[in-house]
Amino acid sequence: MKNLISMRDLSKEEILHLMDVTGKIEAGKIVPNMQRKLAALLFFEPSTRTMFSFDTAMKRMNGDTIIMSGTGQTSVKKGESFADTLQTIAQYSDIIIMRSPVEGSARYASEVVDIPVVNAGDGANQHPTQALLDLYSIVKTQGTLENLSIGLAGDLRFGRTVHSLAQAMALFNVKFKFISPSFLKMPQYIKDDLKSQKIEFEEYENIEDNIDDLDVLYVTRIQKERFADPEDYEKLKGSYILERPMLSNVKENLKVMHPLPRVDEIHTDVDNTEFAYYFPQAKNGVYTRQAIISILLGEVR
Ligand code: CP
Repeated sequence: MKNLISMRDLSKEEILHLMDVTGKIEAGKIVPNMQRKLAALLFFEPSTRTMFSFDTAMKRMNGDTIIMSGTGQTSVKKGESFADTLQTIAQYSDIIIMRSPVEGSARYASEVVDIPVVNAGDGANQHPTQALLDLYSIVKTQGTLENLSIGLAGDLRFGRTVHSLAQAMALFNVKFKFISPSFLKMPQYIKDDLKSQKIEFEEYENIEDNIDDLDVLYVTRIQKERFADPEDYEKLKGSYILERPMLSNVKENLKVMHPLPRVDEIHTDVDNTEFAYYFPQAKNGVYTRQAIISILLGEVR
């Protein structure tokens, strides 16, 4: 693994290895040392979890970070190109971790620089480090990734987290329920991909009648920033909300996950049920990102 750009680039064996390394890092059985290593965090879109968990991951391993949060204070404002910015940052750092609203930008960056590049989210396309922490959260709570029933709910059209997660979970013989307003259905190219792998999926619009047989319900935000027409967002916002009474007949092992941030799609009355897992899920992001950096920089094999 030289870069981490898309879940489609990872084999099942590589994913399982990453899960194993992540578990050993959390348990203290592997203690990676990133002393004298520097990660450049280039975030051209807002972030709380991804940026700060990568920063935390690097610092927990005695490494260091430089952070670009927006371009306001950089020479991009003077007209410097994206390629020149990347090539300059690559002179200072050992790894670039990048978020951008532009689909394909992380792949492009990996072709411009000769240090590892990690895609921390590129538009509505991919968010592979989120998918890996989601997989780790599923293994921790379900004991396996195989043969599970997974509900993906919310903005499946523009949601990069669900695109990456669906492609990753397809390697583990899961059954999917895609739950979304019709405007926000899972893109056809992902569904074609699943069909070619003989992965079963069904599509629904209603959340409350379709969650009782699930092992994992993965809820996502309707993302205002991805809508070209604000009126479309206004029509759909608040169109589904998971509330505590809807969980009365679910399986005991169900875990409700969410990449966060949440707006109103999970009512706060779900937070103190045994089903809520979204905050521990965010914590798992630190161990997962320690594993990703360690493997990409050759500290852990
Ligand atoms: N899950 C996620 O990507 O969160 P942030 O946008 O806060 O990084």
